[in-house]
Amino acid sequence: MHHARSTVWPGDTAGPGAEAGSAAVADHRQALDFLRQYFRENPVTRAGELRRMRDVSCEIEHTGTYRHTGAELAWGARVAWRNSARCIGRLYWNNLNVRDLRDVKTAEDIAEGCFEHLRSSWRGGRIRPTITVFPAEQPDGSAVRIWNDQLIRYAGRQADTGATVGDGQYLRFTRLAERLGWRGAGGRFDVLPLLIETAAGLSVHPVPDDAVREVPLEHPEFGWFGELGLRWHAIPAISNMRLEIGGVHYTAAPFNGWYMQTEIAARNLVDAHRYDTLPRIGERMGLDMSSERTLWRDRAMLELNRAVLHSFDAAGVSLSDHHTESRRFLDHLAREERAGRSCPADWSWIVPPVSGGLTPVYHRYYDEADLRPAFVLDDPARERGQGTFPVRSAGGCPFS
Ligand code: ARG
Repeated sequence: MHHARSTVWPGDTAGPGAEAGSAAVADHRQALDFLRQYFRENPVTRAGELRRMRDVSCEIEHTGTYRHTGAELAWGARVAWRNSARCIGRLYWNNLNVRDLRDVKTAEDIAEGCFEHLRSSWRGGRIRPTITVFPAEQPDGSAVRIWNDQLIRYAGRQADTGATVGDGQYLRFTRLAERLGWRGAGGRFDVLPLLIETAAGLSVHPVPDDAVREVPLEHPEFGWFGELGLRWHAIPAISNMRLEIGGVHYTAAPFNGWYMQTEIAARNLVDAHRYDTLPRIGERMGLDMSSERTLWRDRAMLELNRAVLHSFDAAGVSLSDHHTESRRFLDHLAREERAGRSCPADWSWIVPPVSGGLTPVYHRYYDEADLRPAFVLDDPARERGQGTFPVRSAGGCPFS
């Protein structure tokens, strides 16, 4: 499919403009706090440090913002990951591959930057944690935004029968993409296009096939499992969180790691409003589904977890499991402690959604500090990702 041209403006203001509540001018104090923290972990001479602090102060006074050096940007992005209290996979925070695309301007080039991100982090299945940083929000409030919550997600549609086809979490987002002119191939695993907002409006960019890697699901023992036609995409790349470094807001900075199987096999394919696959798996397994007390759901889900692990392993695609990742997380905590840092963690996100009590992360408490640099999901970004953010036609009838 060709690229649909932008025809709409997001939000209630015509074209670019500051979002209510967002401070576009880089905060001076946050900038200096960041630099002090940066130099504490990346020491230079005292003179070099003072010179950089003075230059940044001066730049903010004259332009309302400042430009991070490549090293500051890379370190800031890595520490934003290190500070992500909800992420169990932070042991390798310092190896995040940082792609600096701060000078890319058009929506077309931003989309291409995202596709190239997916291709380069794939590495033949040995997925490399990667972030691509696009231009920061400007003092005039103009900002680049990727509306999708992840670079790869599947469309969801309501069939005439009322049944949901695809990912029920994206019903509204899919309708929005279709209103903007997108027509997908249909089916249960129809990859959504990117919706990209720049000063020029909102535009639609279908993801090329060579940027989408997926793993069809099979089970190590149940031959019939493949007939369910289930699959999942290999790379989870979050694209609607703002990267905040020293008062600068990178509103478009998609990042990815690799999956832990529970995300796919205990949530995406299981949640009732998403793929809701347990009833079909339970039936095929011949389980007694007459009452929850038979634990048919638990048994079906466990086999789905085995299928995901087995299929990714067979395909040679990076994927972690909750036992390994829990152990690594405790290694990470110990390392952070040795480095004299506190490691913020949110128990309710860290503990895996299956077999929680079997993992060591379950049996302890954590610090909950909200540190910077950080990845931040604000309400407007969440609404964009859900397709509930207002969109109106450019110059057209607002009631249409
Ligand atoms: N839970 C999200 C999903 O299922 C992905 C979140 C990030 N996960 C990761 N392993 N980096 O798509």
